[in-house]
Amino acid sequence: MNNAIPALRWQLNRRPKGAVNPEDLELIEFKPDPLKAEHIRIRNIHLSLDPTQRIWMSDREQYLAPIQVGSVMRGTTVGEVTESRSERFKPGDLVIAGMGGWETQTDIEAKSASRIRRLAGVPLTASLSVLGNTGLTAWFGMTRIGQVKAGDTVVVSAAAGAVGSIAGQIAKLRGARVVGIAGGQAKCEWLTGQLGFDAAIDYKSEDVGEELDRHYPDGIDLNFENVGGAIMEAVFNRLNTFGRMALCGMISGYEKDGPVAGPEDFSRILMRRLRIEGFVVLDHLPHAKEALDELAPWVVNGQLRWKDHVEPGLENALHAMQLLFSGRNDGKMILGISPEPAFSSGAAA
Ligand SMILES: NC(=O)c1ccc[n+]([C@@H]2O[C@H](COP(=O)([O-])OP(=O)(O)OC[C@H]3O[C@@H](n4cnc5c(N)ncnc54)[C@H](OP(=O)(O)O)[C@@H]3O)[C@@H](O)[C@H]2O)c1
Repeated sequence: MNNAIPALRWQLNRRPKGAVNPEDLELIEFKPDPLKAEHIRIRNIHLSLDPTQRIWMSDREQYLAPIQVGSVMRGTTVGEVTESRSERFKPGDLVIAGMGGWETQTDIEAKSASRIRRLAGVPLTASLSVLGNTGLTAWFGMTRIGQVKAGDTVVVSAAAGAVGSIAGQIAKLRGARVVGIAGGQAKCEWLTGQLGFDAAIDYKSEDVGEELDRHYPDGIDLNFENVGGAIMEAVFNRLNTFGRMALCGMISGYEKDGPVAGPEDFSRILMRRLRIEGFVVLDHLPHAKEALDELAPWVVNGQLRWKDHVEPGLENALHAMQLLFSGRNDGKMILGISPEPAFSSGAAA
């Protein structure tokens, strides 16, 4: 890292109320400490922006420790090693840091970084999307939690989003029938026209319940749920006996304080013998190879499509978060922090 360029990071200044506000976070300059033994210094190239980071800004009950006020925002980054005090990596290596930060450079323990093995023709950003946690979330949620099988009637919410679009395609590749729910005609047309969904429901202009009844008069076997609230309830109320819900996310509740309500008629779980299972991709990462062995060929063969939405500039992090929560992101939300090195196929494994 050129020391003449100041190191910058986003710090959490206070816990947001509702949508993230410019006063909640601050972009500050920082002076890196000397690199510790067994650590590497990474020049961050891309940062993954995820709905869950809004949860981390709060102190509600959650699956990781909340980010402390005054600390750097946490996020997964892809970057280039610039300095190494570990045998594992050398300067120039491309790595992914699951517990990186919203910052221009990050020091982490070498054992918590993974080397990126680039595939010819596949952009580096895919390591944060279809071949990163996004694709893994979709794969584990659809195959392991949802246990999708041929002939299932499946509904995916936030279906045109990063996770949902891949989850729906995986269900199609496994022989299921898939209806996606998304906001707006353009997103719905993408799902049916480009991704092979059987149908799509525009929840902004259509009655979700009525449309579900029309597409699935015999009910729904599997719900891959990303949104929560009224959309989840409409699907839940139509789950068949022995139906399943892979509860991936509840984005409609992330900006609210306090508990988030579930479906009104809890007894349906008993009467219909439903299985509702929440999951977090981090628990499944030890088995990532199994997922990637299926996802990577689909990507290379063009059987699995995805979009990366890259907003350039660390300073645009809040704007990018707003895009996510208003549905104005067009694919996996990624912040571009610094230029990518030239791709050398010889360096790829
Ligand atoms: N369990 C896990 O391990 C895991 C991992 C990654 C992500 N997730 C979850 O997966 C979901 C999707 O995440 P992603 O990263 O793929 O983001 P994304 O779907 O690419 O972007 C979020 C989308 O959610 C929709 N949305 C936002 N606010 C909404 C609201 N109030 N009501 C209805 N829809 C709303 C918008 O799509 P529309 O324009 O269609 O409304 C927006 O484009 C999130 O719930 C996230 O927390 C879970």
